[in-house]
Amino acid sequence: MRNLLPMLSNHSHGGGRSAMTCRFRCGDACFQEVPNTSANEYVGDVIAGALSRRSVMRAAAVVTVASAAGSALAFGDVPAAEAHGRPKPNPKTDGARGLRFQPVAPNTADQVTVPAGYEQNVVIRWGEPILRGAPAFDPEKQTAKAQAGQFGYNNDFLSLLPLPGEHHRQVLVANHEYTDEVLMFRGYDPENPTREQVEIAWAAHGLGVVVVQEEHRSGKLTAVTRHRLNRRLTATSPFELTGPAAGAALVRTSADPAGRTVLGTLNNCSGGTTPWGTTLHGEENFNQYFANASSATDKRYGIGTGASERKWERFDKRFDLKQEPNEAHRFGWVVELDPYDPESTPRKRTALGRFKHEAAQPRLTADGRPVVYMGDDERFDYFYKFVSSKKMKKGSSRAAHAHNLTLLDEGTLYVAKLTGDSPAAEIDGTGKLPSDGEFDGSGVWIPLATAGPAGAVSHVPGMTAEEVYVFTRLAGDKVGATKMDRPEDIEPSPRTGRVYVALTNNSNRGKGTNPAADEANPRNLNKHGQILELAEHWDDPASDGFAWRLFLVAGDPNDPATYFAGFPKEKVSPISCPDNVAFDPHGNLWISTDGNQLGSHDGLFGVATHGERRGELKQFLTVPTGAETCGPIVQDRRVLVAVQHPGEIDGASVEKPASVWPDGPGRIVRPAVVSVWRADGRDIGV
Ligand code: FEO
Ligand code: CA
Ligand code: CA
Repeated sequence: MRNLLPMLSNHSHGGGRSAMTCRFRCGDACFQEVPNTSANEYVGDVIAGALSRRSVMRAAAVVTVASAAGSALAFGDVPAAEAHGRPKPNPKTDGARGLRFQPVAPNTADQVTVPAGYEQNVVIRWGEPILRGAPAFDPEKQTAKAQAGQFGYNNDFLSLLPLPGEHHRQVLVANHEYTDEVLMFRGYDPENPTREQVEIAWAAHGLGVVVVQEEHRSGKLTAVTRHRLNRRLTATSPFELTGPAAGAALVRTSADPAGRTVLGTLNNCSGGTTPWGTTLHGEENFNQYFANASSATDKRYGIGTGASERKWERFDKRFDLKQEPNEAHRFGWVVELDPYDPESTPRKRTALGRFKHEAAQPRLTADGRPVVYMGDDERFDYFYKFVSSKKMKKGSSRAAHAHNLTLLDEGTLYVAKLTGDSPAAEIDGTGKLPSDGEFDGSGVWIPLATAGPAGAVSHVPGMTAEEVYVFTRLAGDKVGATKMDRPEDIEPSPRTGRVYVALTNNSNRGKGTNPAADEANPRNLNKHGQILELAEHWDDPASDGFAWRLFLVAGDPNDPATYFAGFPKEKVSPISCPDNVAFDPHGNLWISTDGNQLGSHDGLFGVATHGERRGELKQFLTVPTGAETCGPIVQDRRVLVAVQHPGEIDGASVEKPASVWPDGPGRIVRPAVVSVWRADGRDIGV
């Protein structure tokens, strides 16, 4: 008997996702108690006393600089966002360079809807064979062996890397976040999954690498099957733990007494691409795969005390924490993959901390050290950055590459604390702008731990370095990090250096004993989310201070509680639940959504971040019924999106599909990657 959660017509689970999505993707994170019950303060409070004396002095110094300089200084090059004096845009042909297309209207069509004059193709679907020997997809006769050579389920993050020496080809890397058993297996019984079904699910999780061929004169892409770089990594492939927590007592298990080799990666949501040619992959809602949690630290990560949804613990005891209490400590990391070396073992980089990693986006300091920005996607959790102490080596020599594969093992991990500059009384929880006209303020990056060649040092009183890395959420609690509205993807602008943080929503903000609205999270019962913009001091991403302001407060532009960087609201598209973000070659920010609460399907939007059209947001596409838009990549000639969990509507199943995408009636619904391009062959949006 299927035991679906009741359909919630008021969408009281965060965002507009179906209960089925909540159940399979996040282990019903929004139905559980908020895991962050720490008493730390929020925006507007003073720096917490739990910091070490040195950190307090340093943080105080930064705050002083921030307030003396004022956030206006850090954001100084942006013209005031005033409605008057703006050009009157013609949405058909006008817009910032890169965003000149006719916006797609909100809709609920069971298809990928693109602007007039644009075309699309499905690049690759769940189950398409990519490795030598893998059979053609047959959903009625699927096997774990077949799945391990085929494209995985529920594509999320995408990266496209150049493939020098092969004409018009690129390397596509994809995350396969989670499986949706009721949409994969006819007659699936959630109380009694079979071993074969479980092993198919293991093989459908993980990462995929597949070379794609560009069609001449269009943005069309097709998969090159059996290319030597094509690869699948699954829930059973070996991964190496590296950095300060590798080998630690907390990550040793009976199968791996050395604490250095983990089988599998799970719930890879979004990620990033490094300047040295590797990809990063966040392990997000890993908690849901484990059964029988008993410790307080497990509780902080939302691991359940009973059976898991998918019952994997029946088939491999490592998923039963009663038997292997440390196995869950080996998930929740950022994975680094070298897609150009199909023999390489991917690494879990423990110096970047353990939490529900949404994504990990790097950039370099002026002196060549990587800085990686990361969000922990949970209501009232934090966002972080890691600053490496090692410089990237340029060039393609073997020695340079080997060196660059160690960059993420040494450096300092920080968590963000934000302070608003408006009186707390002016932040009333409705989204009404305070009297200074902006939700803004200053922030500090609070150091948690530093990993070096001789070992790691904790900066958190009462926690060892090993504990800071494995229980990073608790370290954030102790130092008084700011509780945010679900930090998702974070992306630095290659054009301006500013950093954009997507905060999806938080239906629990201000509810019951949960923290109320603050200047960075200004709406109670926040259904639509917001995007935060950071400017780091002296343009130095390694510095420990920043100025911040809200760039977008999402929702229906007719709703007074929305804000589009001051751009006239009658000229923007409605948007709800910003999730993944990416920059196009012109410096515009592209935003995909997850859980639209305005009655439309999810979509992809572009918005100018600088110049006189800053804040002009336009919708580029919508996705089919039940789907979320993921992994956006915007190149000159194409826009690539991952259509994740199409048809994932409560009550839907293989027998009773809610969507017929991508192959039409009578064919199983399949998550897939879609490329969109201009029919006339010109660049996107120019
Ligand atoms: Fe997998 Fe936070 O979305
Ligand atoms: Ca303010
Ligand atoms: Ca996401």
